[in-house]
Amino acid sequence: MPPDEMRARVAGAAALVSMVTDAIDRSVIDAGAQLKIIANVAVGYNNIDVAHAQSRGIIVTNTPDVLTDATADLTWALILAVTRRVSEGERLVRRGAWKGWALDFMLGPELRGKQLGIVGFGRIGRAVASRAAAFGMRVVYAGRRQAQGAAPGDVSVSLDELLTTSDIVSLHVPLTEQTRHLIDGRALARMKRSAYLVNTARGPVVDEAALAWALSQHLIAGAALDVYEHEPVIHPDLLTLENVLLAPHLGSGTTETRTAMANLAVDNVLAVLAGRPPVTPINPVA
Ligand code: DGY
Repeated sequence: MPPDEMRARVAGAAALVSMVTDAIDRSVIDAGAQLKIIANVAVGYNNIDVAHAQSRGIIVTNTPDVLTDATADLTWALILAVTRRVSEGERLVRRGAWKGWALDFMLGPELRGKQLGIVGFGRIGRAVASRAAAFGMRVVYAGRRQAQGAAPGDVSVSLDELLTTSDIVSLHVPLTEQTRHLIDGRALARMKRSAYLVNTARGPVVDEAALAWALSQHLIAGAALDVYEHEPVIHPDLLTLENVLLAPHLGSGTTETRTAMANLAVDNVLAVLAGRPPVTPINPVA
């Protein structure tokens, strides 16, 4: 919804149900003089000025938990697809360039015995980690939340150690001022040349221009992205590279999960409008 229309439609409304693509800034919040709740249909809420909502006494809610498995599964889909060159191979097949099976054709690395580095060990990071044993990978993680929910073999390390030693680096941090461009040119240069970067978190966590350059110089082996700095616009250099897989923000995109996200947002609205506590609040408004 264009911002002008949103500001017009929120006037007089008690509740606003927002998507991750809606910028709920100060102007939208102030246009909603009667607002009691902003219910985001996403676990991430970097699209909302939560501090301003808080100052206005408006409850903000998100949709945690219900999308954890879907996002972790999609992360693994990207890990497998980028290392085994599935989308690169499909592009080749569709343009009629496949000459048939050959012993050394389009090889990629095996996952077994390799190290998965998880940046951000919240719900989704831990769910990604819990699937690693199925592929014979060991897990290291870097994040504020240490150990809680970690499997016995999972090891907590510094971000620098994670970057320099991991074969797959998978991002699961929220977007904050601290995590914006966490993966910049310097961080990419610390990664192994044989390593892959996977981002199903938020686009601006990665400096897209630096990533495109690192991929073009083969400073890392490849990347798989589900999120972008300026969605739906993608850095033009990424679109020309074969060693990057580009998915259109599908992390939570199963029918079951999107339905559960919508239902949870509605449950939050109904609770607040009925004077009950919200189910999944972000801010501490009483
Ligand atoms: C989220 O919930 O934050 C996702 O990015 C939306 O699919």
